[in-house]
Amino acid sequence: MEKIILTGDRPTGRLHLGHYVGSLKRRVELQNSGEFDKIFVMIADAQALTDNADNPEKVRQNIIEVALDYLSVGIDPAKTTIFIQSQVPELCELTTYYMNLVTVSRVQRNPTVKTEIKMRNFEQSIPVGFFCYPISQASDITAFKATTVPVGEDQAPMIELTREIVQRFNNVYGETLVEPEILLPDNEACMRLPGTDGKAKMSKSLGNCIYLSDTAKEVAKKVKSMYTDPLHLNIDDPGHLEGNCPFIYLDALSHGDQINRFNPDFADLDDLKARYVKGGVGDGTVKKILINVLEEELAPIRERRKVYENDIPAVYEILKRGSEEARRVAAATLADVRRAMKIDYFDDAALIEEQTNRFTSK
Ligand code: TRP
Repeated sequence: MEKIILTGDRPTGRLHLGHYVGSLKRRVELQNSGEFDKIFVMIADAQALTDNADNPEKVRQNIIEVALDYLSVGIDPAKTTIFIQSQVPELCELTTYYMNLVTVSRVQRNPTVKTEIKMRNFEQSIPVGFFCYPISQASDITAFKATTVPVGEDQAPMIELTREIVQRFNNVYGETLVEPEILLPDNEACMRLPGTDGKAKMSKSLGNCIYLSDTAKEVAKKVKSMYTDPLHLNIDDPGHLEGNCPFIYLDALSHGDQINRFNPDFADLDDLKARYVKGGVGDGTVKKILINVLEEELAPIRERRKVYENDIPAVYEILKRGSEEARRVAAATLADVRRAMKIDYFDDAALIEEQTNRFTSK
């Protein structure tokens, strides 16, 4: 069986470091591993509209931002099909059919949707489209017969629901769809990168993000004001690592000999941690190392971004061609689905003959 990746993001803002360590970096590695037959990366504008119905301009503006973020981290349109969800209407049709296979109470149990409903104050009145987006996400995944969905852990309930829909569909209509597997980030610290304020998650609405498109100056400023250890008042006080942002970021992002290279006083990250815990290492020292680690990662991304920013029509052309390719693939799956569901009336010569006989043999 072919190995196929599908994943995506809602275009509601520029992508940040949380997206980068949680998924983007891995996507580029997977893309370049040569292990996958096809890779699809989707800009989920239709899903973004499920809770931004009154703000289409925001979604429209962020499509290009997200595309630039993708291209600048190294997602390569020669290897990966980048496309826009709304330009593949076949996905909507699949969603309509899948809705029959899922109960309201099943969707209500989705912990990610529950959290989002609270965050958006939707408790009183949930848009139906928003409520159903996990089902539409199952369409996104199955339309491409994806075997592998690399996403953060908050997306696990969506993949689980997709698997249930696939099982249900195949049971009822015969073996048609492919059950996907989730592929979680492999580094613990990447699972949920906290915001610079130490809050649970980096998120635009909390204003605690480091963006991939931030300048070096902006990044340094954000690191300097990062939440560390409130009990570590003097340099000589023992420090605590738990919830300490610079250390969490170093866990997620530093590699090789970086710590030693950027501050020869320390052998490696373990040495830095041990001495911070013991007391005697200031937060400023840790932050300086982190700024260097981040710059080594972000500078080439910024460079590549500039190249694409100088040719925006070419970026739209990439998205257009990707969307055309995605549409071809989704249409083929939809044809399979229609056949399995027995709603392929005009392509079914046997049906026409059967009905002919039924009515002429009377
Ligand atoms: N729900 C994802 C997010 O919030 C975006 C998304 C839509 C997605 N469809 C998908 C991710 C299919 C993976 C697979 O970012």
